[in-house]
Amino acid sequence: MAILEIQDVLKSFNGLIALNNINISIHKGDFFGLLGPNGAGKSTLMNCIIGYLKTDSGKIILDGKDISGLDLNYRLHIGYVPQEIALYTELSAIQNLKIFGGFYNIPPKQLTERISSVLNLVQLEERKSDIVKNFSGGMKRRLNLAVSILHDPEIILCDEPTVEVDPQSRNAIFDMLAKLNKSGKTIVYTTHYMEEAEKLCNKLAIIDYGKIIAEGSLTDLIDLLKKKETIKIRKAPASDDLISSIKKIGDLTETDFYYEMIPHDSTKPNSQLFRELEDIQLPSHLLELSRASLEDVFLNLTGRRLRD
Ligand SMILES: Nc1ncnc2c1ncn2[C@@H]1O[C@H](COP(=O)(O)OP(=O)(O)O)[C@@H](O)[C@H]1O
Ligand SMILES: [Mg+2]
Repeated sequence: MAILEIQDVLKSFNGLIALNNINISIHKGDFFGLLGPNGAGKSTLMNCIIGYLKTDSGKIILDGKDISGLDLNYRLHIGYVPQEIALYTELSAIQNLKIFGGFYNIPPKQLTERISSVLNLVQLEERKSDIVKNFSGGMKRRLNLAVSILHDPEIILCDEPTVEVDPQSRNAIFDMLAKLNKSGKTIVYTTHYMEEAEKLCNKLAIIDYGKIIAEGSLTDLIDLLKKKETIKIRKAPASDDLISSIKKIGDLTETDFYYEMIPHDSTKPNSQLFRELEDIQLPSHLLELSRASLEDVFLNLTGRRLRD
């Protein structure tokens, strides 16, 4: 059964349509990824679910109960980790946890247990008495996660929790969320990093300009592509002539280290494309065939790269 159901949700800001008829069904135990570029509407949807924003129309159903009427009690069943870190930076980690625990009306004895449990989960026990303003971006993120799940919610909404986070903290966040998910919690995770979504999520929805443009497992999404592989050409000092010869075979999109080729004729097998590239004297060591990714799915659906 769906634990969270978003039905026909519309939300606009002064005429700008931020959510354009969103329908999503999230099942208990899912690690659900909401993937989309900046400005797609991810945070707006999160804010509508938690009730900080009122939808123009549509329904949000949690555990079979319509919560779109802004009945704030239901917030106690949701853990919300906002995109912007919200902590008392002049106070210590433990003081923050006690204050946030108070908001949830957790009885003192239980709160003490919960605090030690979340501190253990986010690996901040040793820093619990330190003032938050001296924490790194990653540590603040982890504490932000900790305060959001003090009340042990069944469903946890994480809005881009790895932005401006060092790699070590990023991995700690992944581990923590994976652990929570394994223990049965439902996770809704927004990101504009497709590698994260690929790695973490069992279900995905791609959002663009306020619309869900594709939904399913990673395999479902890759199956939308005609080609399950892409030809990549490693960047190297190359003459303009060579580039224009390649462009006769396919369009090039550019990433940091590679060009990705989208053949003009998508029915041509890769072996033939490889031969054509060899014929124009493209050094073969620059050529690579790689499994299609969510990035390719997004490119295919929108004509744009997600990172743009
Ligand atoms: N409070 C607001 N007032 C006006 N426009 C907003 C507000 N919040 C978001 N928007 C607009 O709604 C769109 C979606 O924004 P947002 O949900 O923050 O996207 P994302 O989280 O995917 O980056 C953007 O065009 C943004 O500028
Ligand atoms: Mg956002």
